[in-house]
Amino acid sequence: MEKTVALGMVLAAALWALAACNSTDPAAAKGAVAARPQVLSLPAQVGQLAFFDKRLSGGGNMSCASCHDPQYAYGPPNSISVQLGSDIAQTGARAVPSLRYRESTPAYDDNAPNPDGVTSESPGGGFMWDGRAATMAAQAALPLLNPVEMNAASKEAVVKAVREGSYAALFQQAFGAQVFDDTDQAFDALGKAIQALETEDLSFHPYSSKYDLYVFNKIGGALTPAERRGEVLFHSSGVANCSGCHYTGANFNGNTGLMSDFTYQALAAPRNDRSIPNNPDPIPANDDPKYFDMGLCGPFRTDHMPATPDTANPYCGMFKVPVLRNVATRGSFFHNGVFHSMEQVLNFYNTRDTHPEYWYPGDKDGQGAPQANPAWALQPTAVPGATVRKYNDLPRAQQGNVDEEVPLGTGEGGDKTAASGTRPRAPGSAPAMTAEQIADLTCFLGTLSDGYQPTATPATSGRCTK
Ligand code: HEC
Ligand code: HEC
Repeated sequence: MEKTVALGMVLAAALWALAACNSTDPAAAKGAVAARPQVLSLPAQVGQLAFFDKRLSGGGNMSCASCHDPQYAYGPPNSISVQLGSDIAQTGARAVPSLRYRESTPAYDDNAPNPDGVTSESPGGGFMWDGRAATMAAQAALPLLNPVEMNAASKEAVVKAVREGSYAALFQQAFGAQVFDDTDQAFDALGKAIQALETEDLSFHPYSSKYDLYVFNKIGGALTPAERRGEVLFHSSGVANCSGCHYTGANFNGNTGLMSDFTYQALAAPRNDRSIPNNPDPIPANDDPKYFDMGLCGPFRTDHMPATPDTANPYCGMFKVPVLRNVATRGSFFHNGVFHSMEQVLNFYNTRDTHPEYWYPGDKDGQGAPQANPAWALQPTAVPGATVRKYNDLPRAQQGNVDEEVPLGTGEGGDKTAASGTRPRAPGSAPAMTAEQIADLTCFLGTLSDGYQPTATPATSGRCTK
């Protein structure tokens, strides 16, 4: 255990040395010399103490860092789909995102302009998988008071914990001597403190990946042939088309290389429930067949709810395009954490429509013996001829929203609405990518992890080196 801690400290110091080089501009990393440790503003210092303060939770056993662990790029420290709350009898309903590179997320707008300057306006921006929190300061209130997360009894309870805690004086220094006089004011100040931390602290945006060295400082960071092939594929609009959504250009705040355009898309992730054989962690809420997590149209976001589940609504099934930095360090993927490896994610993009039986459960109307699916499929077997319950985490009325852009669909017909011609890939037809291309993409995604250390003698063995 001690060894792990010591190693963590060495890593943290090394990370800091890299991070300290590049303030807000990754280009500043060029040849810069590590300066003094970063000095945080008073609110951010409060935010840092609050972020790790378990006393803010109902059970005194959980802080923000319990789910957003700095050692895991401020993502979850394990591979389970959805985390336990402070009241450990309760589980969340969504996968925990990393908190890195979130500071330039624009506010949510139903008609947000697209940073590529070409795509028409569509829902974009905001925090959470459904954009329902306008700012990081407002977001902080949600986990604190959520019964399935930190489960604090009330705003009063949270403010009381701060007032009676070790950083009460610092809190007053940052927000005024009278700040505790008004509970709402003090609670809002706590949100501002956490936002200040997430915005200022370089550990939330270190820009220290191999990709950063390669793109912004070509010395010592050149990609291997496999990583470079993966990068080209990532941008290939006709084959993988990843950057069509995981946009790498400059967003409105000037930050580049975030790997998200912050729009919303319906990819039809399989329902994370007991219909997946040997599912290690089905989401308990999904035991209710009438429950659907539909992102922008609810249930957690409430301003775009359909009149009835059978009324088609263009917002249903849409989730925010996630930032892909540090994605290779994750153990569960997509809003419901249903996938547990990158191989699974990329094969889902590739075969969602060509081989839906790999991903969705089949009805009992098939003939003959079950046949084995590939090892990465969610459904280990499929019965020939069985009706597959495609897009099984969306009510039928909402399935028209499902995205058919490349690589999921053929991309023909432009817009994905039925009127202009939806072009799903036909069952049994050829997928967009080969297994080789998927392996190359995986190598490229590995370059997005922070804390990269160039070595004097680059590795020569392993799939990604060739
Ligand atoms: C029990 C686990 C858990 C804890 C504790 C927790 N979070 Fe989260 N966090 C989540 C989950 C799950 C989501 C996604 C929720 C959603 O989309 O509805 C999330 C989302 C976020 C987001 C939005 C990120 C994005 O990409 O939009 C921020 C910011 C955040 N959390 C900050 C915090 C802060 C600050 C705290 C402490 C006050 C905290 N979280 C405590 C699980 C947790
Ligand atoms: C049409 C837009 C779109 C395209 C094209 C696209 N993605 Fe995504 N990607 C998304 C959305 C939206 C999600 C989240 C879906 C959800 O949670 O339901 C996502 C999720 C992911 C995740 C999981 C991240 C996490 O934190 O859980 C990975 C990895 C990923 N995409 C990689 C890729 C790669 C690689 C490509 C190219 C082969 C690609 N994506 C193409 C929109 C897109």
